[in-house]
Amino acid sequence: MNERSKVDTTITESQLPQAGRDAEHMQGHWVLARLGKRVLRPGGEKLTKRMLAHTPLAGKRVVEFAPGLGRTTRLILNAGPVAYTGVDRDEQVVKIIGPLAASVGGTCIRADASQTGLPDGSTNMVIGEAMLTMQSERGKRAIIGEAHRILRPGGLYAIHEMGLAPDDLDDSVKDAIRKDLARAIKVNARPLTAVEWRELLESEGFEVVWSGVEPMALLKMRRNLADEGVGGVLCIARNVLTHADLRTRVLQMRRVFNTYGDALTGIAFVVRRKD
Ligand SMILES: C[S@@+](CC[C@H](N)C(=O)[O-])C[C@H]1O[C@@H](n2cnc3c(N)ncnc32)[C@H](O)[C@@H]1O
Repeated sequence: MNERSKVDTTITESQLPQAGRDAEHMQGHWVLARLGKRVLRPGGEKLTKRMLAHTPLAGKRVVEFAPGLGRTTRLILNAGPVAYTGVDRDEQVVKIIGPLAASVGGTCIRADASQTGLPDGSTNMVIGEAMLTMQSERGKRAIIGEAHRILRPGGLYAIHEMGLAPDDLDDSVKDAIRKDLARAIKVNARPLTAVEWRELLESEGFEVVWSGVEPMALLKMRRNLADEGVGGVLCIARNVLTHADLRTRVLQMRRVFNTYGDALTGIAFVVRRKD
């Protein structure tokens, strides 16, 4: 048994971020976590695994931005990096990820990903999922710039975010999507088209190595069976039935996701620091 497998994987309700907040005002991803969801990213674990297939982690120094409840953290740690540092601004997340990271001699720090305090050029790999979409344009640039600063030249940055399609989607639809998402998930989510994500990453000193897309199926049954398993889905279903306040929120989120259908995607990029 390795050290990691001895770490308790159960996350209790009181350990979750925003545990003390009422359902009406909770950010959408923590509503889903409260219901029992553990994979909190638009393209699901399938897109995560496709992305990680392009980021060789064994023997590498890895920084994970926004590890959340740690599902990708486990995939990273199982790949055998020589160093792991998680960076999340939520102290509950730091408490959840800390012991997991410590099991392989790593750590999780509480910091904004735009100002990690980590040394220049100190890592080979930065991975961050479902965290850039929720930043303003300035915030996105600051975080991408920080990834660039802490990476060694040639180092890789992998992101998995919410996308908009097609690339020529009308501006009025983009605006409507942003407003409806903000209302439903209580986060100022600003997804971008594939071209906009690419241009943003390139303008901060990266070149694209790989990109991939999966449907935005966060609340679809098939995705949940794949990501959470049968037991997880049964637990989520029971919680939806027994928590009217959380049910209201999740139904509102589902309405917005369904309204925009294929215009919302899960999108991932692996990019290389150019200089
Ligand atoms: C939607 S969850 C995604 C969690 C996980 N990456 C996943 O895909 O399941 C968003 C996470 O991003 C973190 N976060 C958001 N903005 C951040 C920032 N500027 N700096 C550090 N962490 C941030 C939140 O605390 C939360 O843990």
